[in-house]
Amino acid sequence: MCGIIGYNGKGNVKSILIDGLKALEYRGYDSAGIALSSINDKEIIKSVGRVAKLEEKVKNESKLTPKFGIAHTRWATNGASTLNNAHPHTNGKITLVHNGIIENSDVLKNDLIKKGVKFYGDTDSEVVAALINYYLDDNDIVDSINKALKMLKGSYALVIMIDGDNNLYAVRKDSPLIIGYSDNGYYAVSDISATLGNAKKIVYLDVNVIAKFNSDTITYYRDCKEIKEKVIDVSNISFESSKDGYEHFMLKEIMEEPKLVSNFINKYLYSDNSFYDISNYKRIDIVACGSAMHAGLTSKYLIEKYDKIEVNVYMASEYRYEDKIYLDKDKTLIILISQSGETADTIAALREAKENGIKTLGIVNREGSTIAREADYVIMTEAGVETAVATTKAYIMQVLVLSLIAIKTSIKLGFSDKNLLDEFKKLPHLIEAVLNNSDNIKSIASKIYNIDNCFFIGRLIDYAMCMEASLKLKEVSYIHSECYAAGELKHGTISLIEKGTTVFAIITDKSVLDKTISNLKETLARGARGIVITCDDTDTDFDLEIKVPNAPYFIEPMVLIPSLQLLSYYVAKERGCDIDKPRNLAKSVTVE
Ligand code: F6R
Repeated sequence: MCGIIGYNGKGNVKSILIDGLKALEYRGYDSAGIALSSINDKEIIKSVGRVAKLEEKVKNESKLTPKFGIAHTRWATNGASTLNNAHPHTNGKITLVHNGIIENSDVLKNDLIKKGVKFYGDTDSEVVAALINYYLDDNDIVDSINKALKMLKGSYALVIMIDGDNNLYAVRKDSPLIIGYSDNGYYAVSDISATLGNAKKIVYLDVNVIAKFNSDTITYYRDCKEIKEKVIDVSNISFESSKDGYEHFMLKEIMEEPKLVSNFINKYLYSDNSFYDISNYKRIDIVACGSAMHAGLTSKYLIEKYDKIEVNVYMASEYRYEDKIYLDKDKTLIILISQSGETADTIAALREAKENGIKTLGIVNREGSTIAREADYVIMTEAGVETAVATTKAYIMQVLVLSLIAIKTSIKLGFSDKNLLDEFKKLPHLIEAVLNNSDNIKSIASKIYNIDNCFFIGRLIDYAMCMEASLKLKEVSYIHSECYAAGELKHGTISLIEKGTTVFAIITDKSVLDKTISNLKETLARGARGIVITCDDTDTDFDLEIKVPNAPYFIEPMVLIPSLQLLSYYVAKERGCDIDKPRNLAKSVTVE
């Protein structure tokens, strides 16, 4: 999604902003722009496409030695990816970058037009610039911004520069914005990674608090009154990542899984963290998006089997608008799962749950993210920075946390013996075994990489894994892939099976082994090519098979999924795809 960096300081403004934008590239975008200011002069340069193109344009066109500037990567939501729609946007003396959506921009715009204000583009962001400009009083700029904010409906993270003023102004609501303190100036960024580790202290900007900063001083205002914000030391936290010699972040991040799992279980396997104990609840609602939702779906089978607690899994984008019936609020827990901790729909579901007085548990990867800050209880997945847009290691860590919740609670409830926890100790070696035996996976990738369509089928927990495997394959390789509960295929979709259609079947749950095999054979009878992904001890006889080591039911998903993450990676590589930054995707989906 869109990325923001504003910098005011004594460093090299142009390169700080461009390098910051490069660090934000992983979030996904399709245009970029920069505004540079020497107080009396300003330059705005934009480009459609990659930041490298903007960098080139800045090199060729910029004449200014700027004192500060703002920059943006835009992921198109409203309006195509064009130069005109790219940020920064200007109206009058105001130039700004904006993340989020202004819901009442049409009404505000019409109102301003009636008052004689001229517009140059169609974006809601220009409306914000025009509104601030309309209220602009050079003697009290904070008050002018405040007046404009009061008119806005929707979400925003804004960094604003004003002609003739040596300050930048930053403010947010429902979109993240962080202030960074470095040795040579101040940053306002949508993601701390944009400061490239230069910000040793940060402030998570509170809603509608305006930060005003030049190269030497920073002041915070709430309702125009000066306030103090809590400054957090982050000098020991690494927000950066490198490929460590791997060709792609995705491969590097898959390869990190055994070590991350091992670190996590060494720290928490026998620890007494009460957040893992859900034995007091009668109903669990798991709310998340995409892969995080698939991790939740996997855990439904574990929590229901081991803890006998009802679990329902929801897509956050649906859940937030549903009419909900909570029969016993005190006995209901809502679990929000999110790598970024900034997914707009998941945050909305969290806030609604809190308004309803229901306890919330966030399972989050990013320290200090909105969900990590706002949930009642938080378990950090400790996967480190995940840079590839397609999640791999963070997903595995989500499943690990959820699996630990299921087993720890089961022991607490007396349904399982405490020795069951010891099984987790084998997990890092089991994943390693899968990753070290990738020849077969590579060979299957080379046989199937040129297909146009495929299906994933499985039952119960295997179905949850199919959901994730199918998503992973389609997002990085652009192969059209559909996931079906194996028994459901023949209720319509089987009409799509024809000679050569590839059907993947995941079969680890022995209780439904024969059933899934029968469903696979129904597709083979219609000309499909079957590929089975199963455990070493399962006797199947298909030409194409991926076998993974046997593991207990609550561990098997974390052993099997890495094999299909690798398959997606190698298929995408064969197809020459932009693996770490697939088209149209964003790492952190901050709009609904
Ligand atoms: C797929 C993927 C997405 C995310 C989803 C939720 O590889 O990464 O489906 O899982 O956008 O994002 P988070 O976990 O940040 O809430």
